[in-house]
Amino acid sequence: MQDPLFGAETPAIDDATPAQQVAQLRDVLHHHAHQYYVLDAPQIPDAEYDRLFKQLQALEEAHPDLRTPDSPTQRVLGQVLDGFTPVRHAVPMLSIRTETDTEASGAVNFDARVRRELALTELDAPVEYAAELKFDGLAINLRYENGALVQAATRGDGEIGEDVTQNIRNIRQIPLRLKGVNAPVLEVRGEVYMRRDDFEKLNEQQREQGDKTFVNPRNAAAGAVRQLDPGISAKRPLSFFAYGLGDVQGWDVPPTHSGLLDALQSFGLPVSDKRIVARGADGLIAYHQAIGAERDQLPFDIDGVVYKVNQRELQARLGFVSREPRWAVAHKYPAQEQATLIEGIDIQVGRTGKLTPVARLKPVFVGGVTVTNATLHNLFELRRKHVRVGDQVIVRRAGDVIPEVVGIIAAVRPQYVPNFRMPTQCPVCSSTVVREPGEMNHRCSGGLFCAAQRKQAILHFAQRRALDIEGLGEKLVDQLVEGHIVRTLPDLYKLGVAKLAQLERMADKSAQNIVDALEKSKQTTLPRFLFGLGIRHVGETTAKDLARHFGQLGHKDDETKAGIMNASLDQLLAVNDVGPVVAQSIRTFFDQPHNAEVVEQLRAAGVTWAEHEPSAAADAASLPLYGKTFVLTGTLPTLGREDAKALIEAAGGKVAGSVSKKTHYVIAGAEAGSKLEKAQSLGVPVLDEEALQALLRDGPAAPDNAAVDQPA
Ligand code: IVH
Repeated sequence: MQDPLFGAETPAIDDATPAQQVAQLRDVLHHHAHQYYVLDAPQIPDAEYDRLFKQLQALEEAHPDLRTPDSPTQRVLGQVLDGFTPVRHAVPMLSIRTETDTEASGAVNFDARVRRELALTELDAPVEYAAELKFDGLAINLRYENGALVQAATRGDGEIGEDVTQNIRNIRQIPLRLKGVNAPVLEVRGEVYMRRDDFEKLNEQQREQGDKTFVNPRNAAAGAVRQLDPGISAKRPLSFFAYGLGDVQGWDVPPTHSGLLDALQSFGLPVSDKRIVARGADGLIAYHQAIGAERDQLPFDIDGVVYKVNQRELQARLGFVSREPRWAVAHKYPAQEQATLIEGIDIQVGRTGKLTPVARLKPVFVGGVTVTNATLHNLFELRRKHVRVGDQVIVRRAGDVIPEVVGIIAAVRPQYVPNFRMPTQCPVCSSTVVREPGEMNHRCSGGLFCAAQRKQAILHFAQRRALDIEGLGEKLVDQLVEGHIVRTLPDLYKLGVAKLAQLERMADKSAQNIVDALEKSKQTTLPRFLFGLGIRHVGETTAKDLARHFGQLGHKDDETKAGIMNASLDQLLAVNDVGPVVAQSIRTFFDQPHNAEVVEQLRAAGVTWAEHEPSAAADAASLPLYGKTFVLTGTLPTLGREDAKALIEAAGGKVAGSVSKKTHYVIAGAEAGSKLEKAQSLGVPVLDEEALQALLRDGPAAPDNAAVDQPA
């Protein structure tokens, strides 16, 4: 879509009155916030959003009378509260009956009850249901008056909740103003929750800082919503899904629940797309099973699904029993948290030598699988949770996340058990265990001398995203390392069929397959190779950035590799997204003679790579903008920033974030800022979009090219 502030109409804003400018900016910001936070489909770069946001902030500062509560600038209000104000719900917030029978019969029973209450016979058609997810968070009532969010309240006891407006405003997914509806009162109900990845990140951060971790995403979300300091609450990443209504005045509610959800979505509210309209018990069963199979892959926790009779007219006929609607039910799934006993605490040594205490559990069925081990993360976390052998604990397993012990069930320890201690020597290789100052993790200092680290290093090298050596799995690696057959990565390529066939449970054919897979893996790419080396902090993305960066400096094949291996810290810091920690880690890795040797030996064994992933141009040097560095600033008339970047990169050029003497061109658009000034002061050529297009077409021409505006 074309925004009023972009494209040809850009200058209009300067002629508008402050009130018009403010209104325009708000429209644009609301639109882009919705694209970004709700639809996950940003249309402008973050920096551009920030720029518009600042522009609005400045206008509001200059004209405080123009400030309104539904302005995007008013999300974070800084007041710490003494307590929450009670809010009486205009329409009580009810709960739904839970069907704990997690089998298909749960759905059959609900449908039978509905049909009985509606006095339907076998001859009548199946009942239509709206089926949706049961989000595991906390219920919130959002009150919109004339389209603007005026209040957000928790459920409380259903009659009286708490005013949490301040904190809810921090949730970017929740619109401060609804699109296309101006009803005097429209209360939207839904669930505030925390995504699993946000929860993991938050807990990881808490662990790193030695702070208390959260038990599960629901507790983390509830804690954030009921946090009296909105500054803290704002740092907890929350999300929202709408699923119903409260008080409504001046809006015609659609006749079906599915229609209501569609309407809420069109107002700019997040509504889960995992909703369907189902017919009869069969439709409900199919939905329950399909979602059950998908549950682990969902980005957030659900504890079941919800069935609602779709027609509002039928809902009204069914009515309520003791504060629960007869027309809705929650159909559960097996719990993602269970109690069990800790039978022992083992230590696992990871690829980087990190020692992780792992609880050995009395087997327990959690989140759909039987769990026998659960991580305790590190010594400090274990201590804070007061976990000891013999304790009854809660184990959580959600999604693909490793099961973890979330806490103990109060003091049921049968007898005195000594506190767990970290070993001072690695349980695998007996090397000294160290913990760097300020670090929460203990590490084995043995490096690749340690069989555990060696095994993990080999598995990392062989994985699909690295060298992709098919068939080289855990069991085989155990045998190879324990039998002293493979000590270093290059040893892998010395394996022959005869040697492999001697191993336990290894038929001649499988041995041949492994040898073939090893041979095939030799043809790889530099990013895969770099990633496979297992340098700390070098993931797939960094590996690609390194390969691209050093590849573009004009090196070929081995020279690129040598460029990376010999790069100084400063040279590494020049790579996209490489900061001091990553740069140091790369330097440290290649400074170890045995690591450099491993690389040489792998090359000698025949490992070779194409410079880039196959999709990239085979001969970068032939591209028109090869070796040229660009910096973008301001808003270009037609090209978005990402588009411009993509075009430059496709033509062999590189886009950097800041202007230096090494910058070849600065591409400047409207409202270019300090980068333009810097370019002018350094004498870097400044081009407009048209000149960029010419450059993309024709490549750099002679210095007297008229399109190039060379400042004196
Ligand atoms: S509808 C009258 N729909 O489950 C019906 N609730 O006990 C009111 N929940 O407090 C609720 N997902 O926090 C509804 N799709 C969904 C839901 C949902 C989660 C929660 C909500 C409510 C509780 C019901």
